Amino acid sequence: MNESTSVTPVTISGTGSYVPEKILTNTDLEKIVDTSDEWIFSRTGIKERRIAAEGEFTSHMATKAAERALEQAGITAKEVDLIIVATITPDTLTPSTACYVQANLGASSAVAFDISAACSGFLYAMKLAKRLISDGAYQNALIIGAEKLSSFINWKDRNTCVLFGDGAGAAVLRKSEPGEGRILASETGSDGRHAGLLDIKGGGSACPITMANATDNLATLAMQGREVFKLAVTAMRQASEKVIERAGLTPDDITLVVPHQANLRIIDAISDRLAIPNEKVFVNLHKYGNTSAAAIAIALDEAHREGKFKRGDNIIMVAFGAGLTWAAAAIEW
Ligand code: UT7
Repeated sequence: MNESTSVTPVTISGTGSYVPEKILTNTDLEKIVDTSDEWIFSRTGIKERRIAAEGEFTSHMATKAAERALEQAGITAKEVDLIIVATITPDTLTPSTACYVQANLGASSAVAFDISAACSGFLYAMKLAKRLISDGAYQNALIIGAEKLSSFINWKDRNTCVLFGDGAGAAVLRKSEPGEGRILASETGSDGRHAGLLDIKGGGSACPITMANATDNLATLAMQGREVFKLAVTAMRQASEKVIERAGLTPDDITLVVPHQANLRIIDAISDRLAIPNEKVFVNLHKYGNTSAAAIAIALDEAHREGKFKRGDNIIMVAFGAGLTWAAAAIEW
């Protein structure tokens, strides 16, 4: 459905992000697995990624990003009535990471829950929160993408360990006042037939980690990268085209594209196919690698704080991830 026709428009009133201090460079990885800075950078665009400190969990990073978003939005945690955390690396299977974040923030009036849609999770959360605010169920929503992927990496698998990093990003959503921007359109999709292309097989009810399988690296990410790559380009292009059309825009109207930060070659392929020049595409994956649900949230906040867009500008965000899932949103800032 086209959000631009819905009764109550919803805007983003604040963004925030947080990345851990510890930097793991490509050169550091050369000492761990059979890889090279040259291979990683030329195939992905990644130079370094952040790794959470011992004792620093997904909820801690999410909380810091959320505090920054709340500060920018000019509201207190007590005014938040909805918290959605998008993550595939929750602190615990239950309770939700959102409940830990709620407690950390002191957001005592909020309902809090997680969603699992991998790299598309932040945009899934945005669509959900937007609709719940539009319907009048909630007023101030905090949506967060947060990941501690370093806890789920097989550090002996060069196919995956060079790609991912830790971090968190957040946004505050509320009803748009006259003259303010709004979420114009959003698109979400899934295709579970490709679930096995990118997954963490162990640690759930299907395959609990036991003494017998504890050394099999089952609770780490596995990916068939080449297949995922092809599907990502098609799904992200289609999702972007849908939201651009539904928002009544053309590629020329777009000030900035904030894509999922998985691979620079995927990003370049999408900007090519959408006929949007590279300089209108925000990239920070050289610094952080792929932070899954956090990637778009961090990128949006960095682009915002760097002044890459202003009130009235049109922004496209687009993501793709495990599930498989994909999502896009068009926003008038
Ligand atoms: O965020 C969720 C969505 N995920 C994505 O969007 C990721 C999509 N996929 C990709 O970004 C790319 O497929 C990768 C970056 C994961 C891999 O790049 P590729 O160009 O598709 O490489 P490949 O998997 O086809 O591997 C090419 C070669 C292989 O060697 P052979 O078989 O040609 O001898 C790999 O073993 O590169 C080798 N290789 C490496 N070499 C050095 C794989 N990983 C590494 C490595 N260092 N880290």
